Amino acid sequence: MAIKLVTTAAQLRTESARLLTEKQGSSQGLVPTMGALHEGHARLARTAVEQNDVVVASIFVNPLQFGEAVDLDRYPRTLEADMELLDAEGVDLVFAPSVEEVYPGGEPLVRVTAGRLAEKWEGASRPGHFDGALTVVAKLLHYGFPGAGLSGGGAFVTGAGAGLPAYRAYFGQKDAQQLTLVRRMVADLNFPVEIVAVPTVRSADGLALSSRNRFLSGEEREAALVLSRALRLLEERANAHEPLDLESAQSLVESQPLVGLDYFDVVDPDTLEPLAENCKETPFRGEGLAIIAAKVGPVRLIDNVPLNS
Ligand code: PAF
Repeated sequence: MAIKLVTTAAQLRTESARLLTEKQGSSQGLVPTMGALHEGHARLARTAVEQNDVVVASIFVNPLQFGEAVDLDRYPRTLEADMELLDAEGVDLVFAPSVEEVYPGGEPLVRVTAGRLAEKWEGASRPGHFDGALTVVAKLLHYGFPGAGLSGGGAFVTGAGAGLPAYRAYFGQKDAQQLTLVRRMVADLNFPVEIVAVPTVRSADGLALSSRNRFLSGEEREAALVLSRALRLLEERANAHEPLDLESAQSLVESQPLVGLDYFDVVDPDTLEPLAENCKETPFRGEGLAIIAAKVGPVRLIDNVPLNS
């Protein structure tokens, strides 16, 4: 394997600086993950490798973004397989820090507050989740900054000085609300990084890939297909300049007994506000994001599709 594993911020800084010099690189990409990688993550990594000279993937199961301790314990840890997948995509470095490395003094006193965009949708059923996710994304964006970084104690250390390489970070469109919030954090707090959104990867039958799919039984997996079918229906209607008729698409989901619908709506991709009036009897106009969340058996699934008409 050509890929290298580093577990501390100091090693990450040394190794990424060495690689940038060795490759005479002018760009660095970061792919933040929690591991348990699948083809969706492979696509993030592939895109980052296509666009950057040096690519770092982080694997860190972040305790701050889990509500229940049992979910944190149950989260799959598959480092060896993850390294193989990332190596096959041409990623240079895996940064897999311990919880103590990332939170040396225990849970941080000061955190990122995701604000009102995090109160709805996923945020409504997972209080505190987005504050925890954004806090670690902020830290990971700092760790992965090319030619500079954080020392073990958290102090900011600069390397290359002026003429720093370009810096990009890659997030999946599948976690649409997270993507919107990361973009807002980067814009509102002036992080010097370009956020690149990578489209959702689906299996041949339409199911969006997710680390959680492994917890679905055969029957539940079959039932879960109604989510992507309902989204596709809206996409087809938008493309055909027809009214979206969200209600009929919702009935399709509700007719599946193994699926407990949480929300299904069409929102503005930047504000996450519903575009309710645009979704009824008149043809859909403009840009929107159809979002859905449901419990299928014991597993909560989310999916979305961009609409453009
Ligand atoms: O999407 C994820 O895997 C996580 O929320 C992220 C962005 C790696 C932060 O822990």
